[in-house]
Amino acid sequence: MHCFCHPSSSHLPLRLPAVKFRPASPWHGPTAKPLPQGGTRMKPASSLQSTLADCLNDVKARSCQPFSERELLVPFLQAVQHRLGYLPEEAIIVASAGLGLPENDVHGTASFYPEFRLEPVGRFVIEVCDSLPCEMGGCQLLLKELSEQLGIGAGQSTPDGLFTLETVGCLGQCHACPSLSINGHLVARLTPSAVKQLLDALRGGERLDTALQSLALEPAPAEGLPPVLGNPRALTLPECGGQYQALKAVLAKPPAEVLEAVCASGLRGRGGAGFPAGAKWRSVAGSADEPKFLIANADESEIGTFKDRYLLTRRPMLVLSGMAIAAHAIGAKRAYLFLRAAYSPLVEPLTQAVSALRESLPEGSVEIVLRTSPGGYLCGEETALIQALEGRRGESRFRPPYPTAKGLFGKPTVVNNVETLANVPLIFTERGRAADLAALGSGFGTKLFCLAGDVEHPGLIEAPFGTTLGQLIETAGGMASEAAFGVAVLGGAGGRFLGPSNLTLPLTFEAGAGNGSLIVCHAERPLLETIRSVLRFFHRESCGACLPCREGVYELHQALQPEQTGTYSPEKLLELSRGIRLASRCGLGQTAPRLLEEALSTFPEQVIA
Ligand code: SF4
Ligand code: FES
Repeated sequence: MHCFCHPSSSHLPLRLPAVKFRPASPWHGPTAKPLPQGGTRMKPASSLQSTLADCLNDVKARSCQPFSERELLVPFLQAVQHRLGYLPEEAIIVASAGLGLPENDVHGTASFYPEFRLEPVGRFVIEVCDSLPCEMGGCQLLLKELSEQLGIGAGQSTPDGLFTLETVGCLGQCHACPSLSINGHLVARLTPSAVKQLLDALRGGERLDTALQSLALEPAPAEGLPPVLGNPRALTLPECGGQYQALKAVLAKPPAEVLEAVCASGLRGRGGAGFPAGAKWRSVAGSADEPKFLIANADESEIGTFKDRYLLTRRPMLVLSGMAIAAHAIGAKRAYLFLRAAYSPLVEPLTQAVSALRESLPEGSVEIVLRTSPGGYLCGEETALIQALEGRRGESRFRPPYPTAKGLFGKPTVVNNVETLANVPLIFTERGRAADLAALGSGFGTKLFCLAGDVEHPGLIEAPFGTTLGQLIETAGGMASEAAFGVAVLGGAGGRFLGPSNLTLPLTFEAGAGNGSLIVCHAERPLLETIRSVLRFFHRESCGACLPCREGVYELHQALQPEQTGTYSPEKLLELSRGIRLASRCGLGQTAPRLLEEALSTFPEQVIA
């Protein structure tokens, strides 16, 4: 999950920029997707029609009572794509008729999300992450090899219908780059030399898992590192007590008592801005509007973050218990766990975990519903996430009203990050933990930091807030190959640069460490390449609704290409950046130029040749 609200953000003056944006970018965002080439609309063939009807009936049967039929749109489209590999035009017609929505509305939603395909794809869909850590890990070489071996470019399919090659944003495996996904299976560190062997095996009819096993790839490193910072609880977040006794004891307390305990703990949100969790909960608990909802935001799509995947894989009960406690405190009868698209392999184990928890909880406890994101960086933002859950295009909403007042289906809603919720049971179950959490208000406590890039052992480190950048790098084994430290990107694509003078900087919420993303670069990496990579990421993830973000970010990216050297002065780049920041509707556009602006003010000689 990521949060666009950076703690150091100042209020922006309400003045429109003078800069004009011209539509010039080859933007292939949501509305640019082609309509299916169906020609004259045909009545669906009977077998296809029955498959679609099965999908719709199945989704309706498996879903708990929906708040509105529209809520089932995304699960239905996901079910169809799972069965057919893409969404034929008939799926739009069936969704429209079955859920009572206009066809163009259904198409507008389906075409918005990167996960949905409106045209057939190859039997094996190879998605290569080309975001910053994977770019640093050699994804371009891998892409080149795949492209040459397959004879296609990114975004194309082989004529035999066997392979489709795509580039995507972060896959949540940034500690083992380059990362790719084949039909949803995450693969780490595929080397260019292993590409031919893999493709030959798949062409020869071998199963994907067998083909991958026979590659003898360097194993992905474990996400977690042994504790060396003197933190006795490093990576030992305990589950709730056996047989859920500890959880049941918390749920037996009056909601107001639970709420007060969380407020008193000082727990702050781990998505980015560090908003006090108790204050959010109190706002929803005190509302007279019903029903109330809780959403666990497991759509961490910020580049360089993989902590939520770790927690949901290794500590699912901790997260689910946190959800049960939060729902109890705010009076929500339903809670949604909104899972990032790249984490779909976790659906099955999480479904089992939810069932196990449900059987153990008293009658009338919260119902936890698992939903998978239809993709896109923007869906990590809470209002865009709510749009997706409601079955709408995942465009962020203007705030206020905040979700605590008008959230899911217009009802009071708490949206909490997975790591935030994982900390909740510890307030009640671990001796001494509450005292640690109480100290968070002054910037201390523990935090899961995701280290990626040029460190010897990229991975997850649990460390107290206030740990310095230098200490974290040291914990990760120091710089890879003993290279000199250059910069670190803290907080992901919309974060900030930390240079050598910041090695002793305590990493706190206020410093921008809220989401835990830390991408370390050695001194020989050109800063300009880092900025280009981030701008390319933002350009692809822009929803395209507003011109400054869609065209301005593209123009900035183009302005930094080698062939433009000398064309754009620092003043011109800053003017363009400021225009994007001020006139973009949501946090994505507002944070997109942040790293460039910071580099121009701190390391100008590395941006302007
Ligand atoms: S700034 Fe505008 S175009 Fe960019 S993601 Fe937000 S709403 Fe979409
Ligand atoms: S998996 Fe590539 S940047 Fe995260």
